[in-house]
Amino acid sequence: MAEILAASEAMERALALLEGGDVVAIPTETVYGLAADATNGVGVARIFEVKGRPRFNPLIAHVADLAMAERIALFDPVSKRLAQTFWPGPLTLVLPQRPGNGIHPLATAGLDTIALRMPKGFGGQLIASLGRPLAAPSANSSGRISATTAEAVAADLGATIKLVVDGGATSVGVESTIVKLEGAKLRLLRPGGIAAEEIEAAAGMKLLRGAAGIEAPGMLASHYAPGAAVRVNAAKVAKGEALLAFGPRRAEGWQGAAALRNLSETGDLREAASNLFAHMQDLDRSGAKTIAVEPIPSDGLGEAINDRLSRAAAPRDKIDRAP
Ligand code: TXA
Ligand code: MG
Repeated sequence: MAEILAASEAMERALALLEGGDVVAIPTETVYGLAADATNGVGVARIFEVKGRPRFNPLIAHVADLAMAERIALFDPVSKRLAQTFWPGPLTLVLPQRPGNGIHPLATAGLDTIALRMPKGFGGQLIASLGRPLAAPSANSSGRISATTAEAVAADLGATIKLVVDGGATSVGVESTIVKLEGAKLRLLRPGGIAAEEIEAAAGMKLLRGAAGIEAPGMLASHYAPGAAVRVNAAKVAKGEALLAFGPRRAEGWQGAAALRNLSETGDLREAASNLFAHMQDLDRSGAKTIAVEPIPSDGLGEAINDRLSRAAAPRDKIDRAP
């Protein structure tokens, strides 16, 4: 069962768990977050495992200050003004990633943009002490409502995580507002803790609404799709195909593969999840026209891995639209 520690007593234990690639439930001013070091692939994979999410959708990276945010992402003047006005607070900005920022690709689902926010309270202190951003979706299992108390987190996830940091009931109670600059326009991707009107006043422009498809996690139009065709459940590899392998045994014909990456030599699904986007991108860059993917079991994180792969394998006009 998870230990529940008051925020004033939890710092050391929380840091130790995060350093070890584990998750910690933390209070923020909006809802409780299920946090992991955003640069640690196994930690980020644990988030999806604990939530039981059937898909990998991109997570918000939480920062301690604007300087950390600027090391991770490229700010335009409007987004910067919003950050200066509303941070720390319930505003999330989607921005282009700064190359080489160290963020693990599983945290952003392979996208070249990233959602950033600076939370109030314990989370901010924890991130500053860790010195790295925290990836954190709401601390609830997939399909349940977000938790606003430590007790609610423990009741839902207590059997699978080690620590819930208790900061009392959250003050805002709904998730952060998410906005993204598109060209010269600002789009509201998700309404939340800061009213759209307040953002419009600070930005000096009206917000575009709707059509972003953000309500359906993982179905973003810009979601990473490889240029190569993807063939799942491959029992054989054709000469010249790239091979995305899994486990200790190779598919027939693997010797003729143009490039090979193994998601996990030992067949560990958590390791496989953490390697998925980086390996797909590597194989894509190899120039092979097709990526053959060995069968991957569908238990645990395998469900989300197979979901991602089958959408990459779908006919190109259907990517991101599959149910
Ligand atoms: O208040 C909050 O925002 C809470 C606390 C814990 O900070 N977090 C939260 O995270 O609500 P989550 O994972 O439940 O929701 C994040 C949303 C998802 O809908 C996701 O699709 C979107 O942010 N998102 C993340 N990265 C994105 C990106 N690069 N582009 C567009 N949308 C993105
Ligand atoms: Mg959520």
